[in-house]
Amino acid sequence: MQKRRLGRTGLQVSEIGYGAWGIGGSEWMGAKDDESLRALHRALDLGVNFIDTALAYGRGHSEQIVGQVVRERREEIHIATKVFPKNLTWPARAGVPVAEVFPPEHIRHCCEKSLRNLGQERIDLLQLHVWRDEWLEQEGWRDALLGLKAAGKVRFVGISVNDHAPETALRAVASGLFDTVQVIFNIFDPTPAAALLPACLAHDLGVLARVPLDEGALTGSITPDTTFPEGDFRNDYFGGDRKQQVFARTEALKKLLAPEAGSLPELALRFCLSHDTVSSVIPGMRRVATAEANAAISDGRRLSPALLEKLKAHAWPKNFYS
Ligand SMILES: NC(=O)c1ccc[n+]([C@@H]2O[C@H](COP(=O)([O-])OP(=O)(O)OC[C@H]3O[C@@H](n4cnc5c(N)ncnc54)[C@H](OP(=O)(O)O)[C@@H]3O)[C@@H](O)[C@H]2O)c1
Repeated sequence: MQKRRLGRTGLQVSEIGYGAWGIGGSEWMGAKDDESLRALHRALDLGVNFIDTALAYGRGHSEQIVGQVVRERREEIHIATKVFPKNLTWPARAGVPVAEVFPPEHIRHCCEKSLRNLGQERIDLLQLHVWRDEWLEQEGWRDALLGLKAAGKVRFVGISVNDHAPETALRAVASGLFDTVQVIFNIFDPTPAAALLPACLAHDLGVLARVPLDEGALTGSITPDTTFPEGDFRNDYFGGDRKQQVFARTEALKKLLAPEAGSLPELALRFCLSHDTVSSVIPGMRRVATAEANAAISDGRRLSPALLEKLKAHAWPKNFYS
């Protein structure tokens, strides 16, 4: 497993990280804890040392599973988690003051809860689960985060950028207040490469590429007949005629696989890792088989400039979250 520097944190993180939303057991339905535990252990066996979770994932359940596994291991594992927006609104809306979203006592309370769920005394990376640049000049949240750092409860702080809106975090990147950004970055949405990634490079922030498989679309396994468990958010995400659209798009992408990638997930993850500014790509992988397939991709190979150029034509401006 290749490691990369997580920006100014200086942490050396596995370039394949573990996205722990799916194992939380809400929104993503169908995860079984024993299988999640096996998948997470397998990923760590294969050199993954970075896990991205959130207090909101299964109301702490994802953190509890992550904490259980990390406590069973001897090696150093870096855990990132997130403070959820108090108004429970994803993404953050323009014009809503930060005092309604991240009041200081909420930040401190969430951090304490996460520490308990994880069974840790310190969190490596605490991220705000939504962000808007207009909050930079507003008071409260900054002192709360700095206070948690000063108290030794949090090592580094970051933001999770609003869905498909990398331009809403450019001032935060330049502010010097944050150590990392987490952003949707995949073949369908390469827009962070235009301004956000160069800004992260210039200001030395770590970059976590989230949703690299577009919630499963870029696995190439979604067909017009695919169904999801009842209550699963993907029933909305891939609702209406979106499965047909995804199928047409991924069938076209499959023609680009050979010789540089053996499968669509491999192509999708290699796409992210071909950008040196990305510190870690964090696919969800609830099964041993997906953990093994993804860990195997970390071999230092980059997609060729010619293929990266061809992939530009497969960008797909959309927002299935809205
Ligand atoms: N606002 C935010 O901050 C935010 C929002 C969304 C996500 N995230 C973070 O980003 C992470 C990744 O996003 P995600 O989990 O939502 O979606 P994703 O990584 O784009 O896709 C996950 C899906 O791809 C499948 N998969 C993974 N590797 C595969 C492979 N090699 N072959 C076939 N299928 C494969 C997984 O299968 P199995 O699970 O069945 O193994 C799962 O169904 C999350 O877990 C979370 O940590 C953050």
